[in-house]
Amino acid sequence: MANLMDTHPSIHDLERRAKRRIPHFAWEYLDSGTGSEEARDLNLEAMRRVRLTPQMMKGLLQPDTTTELFGRSYTSPIGVAPVGLTGMIWPGADEALAQTAVSRNIPYVLSTVGTQSPETIGPIAGPNGWFQLYPPRDATIRDDLLERVQTAGFSALVVTADVPAASRRERQRKARIRMPPAIGPRLIFDSVRRPAWTIGVLQNGVPRFRTIEKYIDAASLKNAAGFVGANLGGTLSYDYLAEVRERWDGPIVVKGILDPDDAQRCVDTGADAVQVSNHGGRQLDGSIAAIDALPPIVERLNGSVPVLFDSGIRDGLDVARAIALGADFAFCGRAFMFGLAAFGETGAGHAYDVLQDGLVNVMHQTGCENLHQLRERVAPAR
Ligand code: GLV
Repeated sequence: MANLMDTHPSIHDLERRAKRRIPHFAWEYLDSGTGSEEARDLNLEAMRRVRLTPQMMKGLLQPDTTTELFGRSYTSPIGVAPVGLTGMIWPGADEALAQTAVSRNIPYVLSTVGTQSPETIGPIAGPNGWFQLYPPRDATIRDDLLERVQTAGFSALVVTADVPAASRRERQRKARIRMPPAIGPRLIFDSVRRPAWTIGVLQNGVPRFRTIEKYIDAASLKNAAGFVGANLGGTLSYDYLAEVRERWDGPIVVKGILDPDDAQRCVDTGADAVQVSNHGGRQLDGSIAAIDALPPIVERLNGSVPVLFDSGIRDGLDVARAIALGADFAFCGRAFMFGLAAFGETGAGHAYDVLQDGLVNVMHQTGCENLHQLRERVAPAR
């Protein structure tokens, strides 16, 4: 078989193949932003403006990407971000991503609105498994969920702050996304044209919200596009975060922070890390690009806790850019889903290999032996 690194050397190559294999409605969920998708596109544009100044003649370098976080050592500062409706995008996604995380020794964040339960993913992911919490409105549900996640062995909790309410997501509405997918002429038409996806669904079962279905009545589960905001959003406050802090023993990351004051307040409330993110540009179309929000937050926190990053990473160069601007770890959602949909679990691993190979190459090109040195390579903004 041809080497994937030759046939599909970039995430964009995986994206093109994924688009041909994912049914239209699921593609709309994965690919879309909100509004006219300015924020989604700006994340990528702003990333491209981050330039590095190489230093030459360093002799033979062996770049080291090993990264310590929360007392664990990972192969590189690259993680699988939480993605909702995973099994609808590609059947068996959560299991495959968890396995990829173990084989590459990176973190995998299972989403509250993923399609597999913490009880199933915990044993596959082991300590590489982190869990993303959409804060349930009902404290009894929250506490039960936290207990299940802790018992299943997840090593870190990622509390999502960036969905204060459902966003409009016009493309998702038009695609009429439903969970479980509504079986009708559209789905049948799509399935016939996407045989690998259809066979996957037959093998894995129809995707369901397995983590939360026990808490929520079937009717409110149906409208997936508005589901998160309607049932799980609008809850998070600093008091709520303090309650989560009391109930979760391990590290807590607060994800979706763009403002330095917020970042500081998260730390003051007990967060062990902050993740700069604008939810892949899916919430506020007029949002600042996530990469532009990173340096002021790094400056404010001044090394007190690690700063994680997502929203706009499409290759290893972008990982290097985020690290250069002060992030300790970079997460990608869409990139891994593209790999998975393109070539199954092998493709998810390949997406990682592309990102990692790119990162190491940038370190060679810029003369950096370790990740920290990338910070000295940022060229002044023009
Ligand atoms: C879920 O997290 C989504 O962005 O739809």
